[in-house]
Amino acid sequence: MVTKSAYAPIFDLPKHKLTALFEAEPDRLGYLTFDAAGIHFDLSKTHLDRPMIAAFLALAGACDFDGHRKALFAGDIVNPTEGRPAEHPAERGVGKPESVERAKGYQARMRALIDAIEGSALGPIRHVLQVGIGGSALGPNLLVDALGRDADRYDVAVVSNVDGAALDEVFKKFDPTATLLAVASKTFTTTETMMNAESVVAWMQENGVEDPYGRVIALTAAPDKAMEWGVDETRILPFAESVGGRYSLWSSIGFGAAIGIGWDAYEELLEGAAEMDRHFMLTAPEQNIPLIAAFADRYYAVVRGSETRAVFAYDERLRLLPSYLQQLEMESNGKRVTIAGEALDIPSSPITWGGVGTDAQHAVFQLLHQGTHVLPVEFIASIEPGHGLDDGHHHALLASCFAQGAALMAGKGNEDPARAYPGDRPSTTLLVEQVDPRTLGALIAFYEHRTFCNAVLTGINPFDQFGVELGKQMAKAISTEGTGNFDASTQDLIARAFG
Ligand code: F6P
Repeated sequence: MVTKSAYAPIFDLPKHKLTALFEAEPDRLGYLTFDAAGIHFDLSKTHLDRPMIAAFLALAGACDFDGHRKALFAGDIVNPTEGRPAEHPAERGVGKPESVERAKGYQARMRALIDAIEGSALGPIRHVLQVGIGGSALGPNLLVDALGRDADRYDVAVVSNVDGAALDEVFKKFDPTATLLAVASKTFTTTETMMNAESVVAWMQENGVEDPYGRVIALTAAPDKAMEWGVDETRILPFAESVGGRYSLWSSIGFGAAIGIGWDAYEELLEGAAEMDRHFMLTAPEQNIPLIAAFADRYYAVVRGSETRAVFAYDERLRLLPSYLQQLEMESNGKRVTIAGEALDIPSSPITWGGVGTDAQHAVFQLLHQGTHVLPVEFIASIEPGHGLDDGHHHALLASCFAQGAALMAGKGNEDPARAYPGDRPSTTLLVEQVDPRTLGALIAFYEHRTFCNAVLTGINPFDQFGVELGKQMAKAISTEGTGNFDASTQDLIARAFG
């Protein structure tokens, strides 16, 4: 069990200022910047230094990092509360051979269906509407938004919210007679997704599609349920139960992205992720980037008490990355008990939030520079722009990104306290050559492994999510029974809304 006392050697370390660390360590960039899978990682503006890394390496050893990592890639049970392995790396070709083979088989099936759709086997399809929520939407949506902008292919929309306004927006844009519905749900029971799927079928039917179910495909780990719901077996793209929802964009859940960006690009994405898998699996702890990044994460959360972690994409194409990371990090590591079921005495996941640069600078950066909270900030930028406009745009974007990290760290004195910047505020910068499928695959896999490392260093199970169940049960009770055994406030709200 990882208790606060395990962190004692790290608490005891002297707290140097970032600027002092740079002055004292001329080789700081040499040991705190890393390159892997097309991504440059600069952790030098965090408070990590050699003694701290040594203390964290000892902690990682005490937590059996190596054993946990081996278990992950071996396909062992790493999610004990649900008795499951976590085999998302197998989807990228890295993991237990049988699981890799199985994933390849499922991918071949997905490719064949995409080829058939491209060959008009399901009719004249121009639009793809993927309905799903959480992990069945956030990843595919990120990929389509980041990589599908210039693709002259299908229009892909990913709809998650049960609020009908979300579907309505797509209904206004898509031609029902040229739309394919992809129902994405690992369990094929999720209320929002099933309700949205039914509404899409009804919309098709009402608009002259004779056999709407002939235009439906299912992306699921529960093929039986999909068949019961009305999807023909030939149009079900299954995936393994051992792939968790928030790790499922690599499985058939990635269908919307694969058809939106094209199969070759989708394969590049998987290959980029595999490259990061190999880095994570094979690199010693001292050079292991997801692990070292997790050292910084744990330092701020546990030792400095930072309750949040902010991520700013200085690239419009990555504007959905912060919301994707919110599920990945908070659903994985927002836990209050250890893997053995004992109460944690250290903080688990910080709250992940963020936005896009430069917009966020004009909205929330005030707090980052001068607020009382000290929180780690992450910048992600691309050297190559994602547009053909004048170079000035990209130059201004990158200049702003780099300036923010420098300003947060350096600060600036002023005799007027309202105008003074305290500085010593940490940041990391991830710089990619370009936002292409390969690099994005590596980037997402990096975040997955970093989240895993954070869980190991906290002693929690990152692969279950029981916290989401209670609200679902209560919503069901309200929907089916109209009212229930609720508190007075909730009863009153129900009465006001439903009469
Ligand atoms: O409610 C949370 C959750 O279970 C997520 O973990 C998951 O990504 C999402 O719901 C959707 O689940 P499904 O793919 O089974 O519809």
